Amino acid sequence: MVSSRSSSKPLTVLGIETSCDETAAAIVTRASDGSGMIRSNIVLSQLTEHAAFGGVVPEIAARAHVEALDGVIAAALREAKAGWNDLDAIAVTAGPGLIGGLLLGTVTAAAIAAARGLALMPINHLEGHALTATLTDGLAFPYLLLLVSGGHSQFLLVEGVGRYKRLGTTIDDALGEAFDKTAKLLGLAYPGGPSVELCARNGDPERFDLPRPLTGTAGCDFSFSGLKTAVRQVAEANAPLSDQDLADLCAGFQMAVGDVLEDRLRHAVAACRSGPNGRPGHLVAAGGVAANLYLRERLEQAAAALGLTFIAPAPDLCTDNAAMIAWAGVSRLVEGFPASDNIAARARWPLDEAAEPVIGAGRKGARA
Ligand code: KG4
Ligand code: ZN
Repeated sequence: MVSSRSSSKPLTVLGIETSCDETAAAIVTRASDGSGMIRSNIVLSQLTEHAAFGGVVPEIAARAHVEALDGVIAAALREAKAGWNDLDAIAVTAGPGLIGGLLLGTVTAAAIAAARGLALMPINHLEGHALTATLTDGLAFPYLLLLVSGGHSQFLLVEGVGRYKRLGTTIDDALGEAFDKTAKLLGLAYPGGPSVELCARNGDPERFDLPRPLTGTAGCDFSFSGLKTAVRQVAEANAPLSDQDLADLCAGFQMAVGDVLEDRLRHAVAACRSGPNGRPGHLVAAGGVAANLYLRERLEQAAAALGLTFIAPAPDLCTDNAAMIAWAGVSRLVEGFPASDNIAARARWPLDEAAEPVIGAGRKGARA
């Protein structure tokens, strides 16, 4: 039985991730001392399939997962030099995300688990992002988490495995969505986040005056739709845009985002310190937008000014992957969460189920 924290038996888990446009599988082992090792981490991106449409097309994503998943799982086992008998469990993303990919992932995982007699762990994709720093940095609970991705932008207090308190969230667009829409309206390549970051490198962030929505207001919610609209207005007023105009606009957008994150972080930290939940010593950034090097630097400075140590997983562990899903499975097994034979895919699945839903829809639906 692989369910006790005191168990010192090593655990090896296959993770499967198909919630959006990456088909991913990974093998992660937790050693007897509690440390984690990523033995393989295969991510097959569908970028080229979706690029022509400037965003993820659910039907295309589902079909691409069907074609790729078996091969990706086989590659993960091969690269880890592992066989089915080496596994203790299969962890699979059961939500939130695009339902076609989630159904394929959960059905595939359930079939393998039944055929091979393995434990099956349904995982919330957001929990995968939330726990990554405990794998990469051996970080202990509690910590403050900024989860910024294509479908969500939240501050959470991570108190333990399965224990998340949402402190703030977006009231409209997710931050990754704002990057993607900004890139699209400026004619930059999909996916937008990396394109905006690259374009911003040669830009003057002070040239255009852009808003910093919600800064100075109480709480630590976000709003990004007005910023995106302001970028559109500046772009229209200065059309046709030269390469330098584009760079200045992207740099201005990123700086505005950095200022917003800094302000909201101050409020999130104040909320933690005045609440009953203790004083986290670390700020963790996770999710695809946390791969942005400019924002990582801004967050590191802002955290230091507030007395927090900043941790962000390597960029390829910030964007979607299955190692984080395998590790969430390991973490749940260790904490004694039950395995399940019957997994229901959930398009929506908030990490803090007790938090009030907030109006707003991310790229993949109202994931926040
Ligand atoms: O976590 P993720 O890979 O998928 C979701 O769960 O949504 O995040 C994808 C999002 C996209 O919106 C993408 O544009 C953004 O993360 N992203 C970035 C960067 N890399 C990915 N945003 C800003 N800068 C980046 N370097
Ligand atoms: Zn994600």
